Order: sequence, then structure tokens, then C-alpha cells
Amino acid sequence: MGSGIAAQSMASGLPVILVEASDQRAEDARERVRRAVSRIHEHDDGGARGRSGFPEPELLVSTDLAQVSGCPLVIESVPEVAELKREVLAGIAGIVAADTLIATNTSSIALKELQVAVGRPERFGGLHFFNPVPASSLVEVVRGSATGSETILDFVRFAEGLGKECIVVNDSPGFATSRLGVILGLEAIRMLEEGVASVEDIDRGMILGYRYPMGPLRLTDLVGLDVRLAIARYLAPTLGPRFEPPRLLVDKVACGELGKKSGVGFYTW
Ligand SMILES: NC(=O)c1ccc[n+]([C@@H]2O[C@H](COP(=O)([O-])OP(=O)(O)OC[C@H]3O[C@@H](n4cnc5c(N)ncnc54)[C@H](O)[C@@H]3O)[C@@H](O)[C@H]2O)c1
Repeated sequence: MGSGIAAQSMASGLPVILVEASDQRAEDARERVRRAVSRIHEHDDGGARGRSGFPEPELLVSTDLAQVSGCPLVIESVPEVAELKREVLAGIAGIVAADTLIATNTSSIALKELQVAVGRPERFGGLHFFNPVPASSLVEVVRGSATGSETILDFVRFAEGLGKECIVVNDSPGFATSRLGVILGLEAIRMLEEGVASVEDIDRGMILGYRYPMGPLRLTDLVGLDVRLAIARYLAPTLGPRFEPPRLLVDKVACGELGKKSGVGFYTW
């Protein structure tokens, strides 16, 4: 997701500093961003995806968080683990200027659990992008209990500058989108477990019957089964047992079937 956000920003003319956890991951991220920027320009229709005609903005990829100290906006997009996010957010807050905006791309973790790590919570909120970033038109802007109204306006302006449309939601576990999207995905997995229908037919049912652009199992593959599992495990104790992850999801993640990124999920990629 971090690479997608970086690529979309660059395609909209913004220089980007991307921080990764290791040299190898930094190298992989650089390649992913470069490929994604090219793809955005290939599909460039002058509209939502990107704007060609810009000189290619600078991309700096580093493993040193201190590199972001001069940025006007820093978006955290590390794995969906509250403790890790707090650690990274505290690191960011410790080095940036007082007026720097700090956002999290969390899909589900309530901001009230993260804002303690950010010294100035009025400059902090959610910028929840969707996967794949260049192809999806939505950014869910999340207003924490302490987020300033100027911060929300700045977030909306930033997202619209990337060609996205925004919804603004109040802080709540799973926000508006993951809460509904994940429950559909979990139910589809439970139906598969119970033998109600095949993977393909469950997906086709939602595409043809309800005009979903993609079925819930294919979407789970794209999102990552590990990401969905982490969200379910976070939402079950906060929103209720309807979010308990099905056994099949737990087992697939345990044997490395994570969806598109590992080559196998509910589909073979
Ligand atoms: N996958 C999706 O479809 C999706 C959609 C919307 C939002 N999100 C959210 O985006 C976030 C990231 O998800 P993802 O799917 O990209 O996960 P991912 O595991 O693919 O990527 C996370 C990246 O963070 C890096 N990382 C880990 N610790 C780090 C650190 N201390 N400093 C710098 N980098 C570090 C990892 O090396 C990895 O490249 C999560 O909060 C997730 O909920 C995911």
C-alpha cells in the first residue's frame, strides 16, 4: 500500500520519500513504485489516475526514518499491528516539525488507540487508501476525537489532488468501509467452509447478482489474507463475534496462502 500511495503521489507531481524496514525491501519498493508510476502514465486519461506532462518528481527510498523530518505530510502504512504502528508513529512525531500532518493508512484500528503515540493529535488522522491505489477512486478520511478541522480539510485537499474522492468518517473500529467489506469477505469464507458454493460461484453471484465489480473472495486475495485476518482479529473483540475469523482463513494464512502476493489464496495467481 505504501508503494501504491507513493506512486500515485508521484504521478500527481509530488516528490516522495519512502521509508522501508530493510535494504532489500527498500530496493523492492523502489522497483514497485517505478513500475506503478509507469503503469499510471500508460493509462493516463488526464483524469483520476495521474497527470502526465509533469517532470518525474523525485523519489527517495531509504531505511532511515529521519529522512522524512522535512516533509509536510507523513503517511504511516506499516502492517496492521497497533503496537508497531504506535512505535512508528511515535518515531515520526519525534522528528517532524510542529505543523507536519501525520496520517495513518490503517484499515481498521481505531485512531484513539494510535493517537497517544502522536504528540499533537490535532495534526493526526486517517487517510485510508484502497487497493490497488491507482485504480481505486476512494480515500476514507478518518476524523479522530482530537483531529483538527483544518487537518481534515488538508487531508481532503491532498487526496483530491491525487484525483481521489473522499468520504469523511468518525473514528470507530473498522471505520465505514472495512467494517462492511470485511464482514462480507468473512461470510463468503464461511459459506465456502460450509460447501454452499464454489469460490468462483460465490464471487460470480455477487458480481452478476449485485453488480459488485469483484467478488468478495477475489478481493480477499487482493487485499491479502493475512491483512484480512489481522483486521478480523482486531474487530472481533471490539465489534462482536460476527467478526471472528473462520477456521479456513486462519489455516490458509498459517500455511502461507496469503492471496495474490504469495501466488495462492482462494485463487491461484
Ligand atoms: N492490503 C490492502 O488491501 C490494504 C488496503 C488498505 C489499507 N491497508 C493498510 O495498509 C497498511 C499496510 O498494509 P499492506 O497490505 O501494505 O502490508 P504489507 O505487509 O504488504 O506492507 C507493509 C510494509 O511495511 C514495511 N514495514 C514494516 N515495519 C516497518 C517499519 N518499522 N518501518 C518502515 N517500514 C516498515 C514492511 O517491510 C512492508 O513492506 C496496513 O495498516 C493495512 O491495514 C491495506
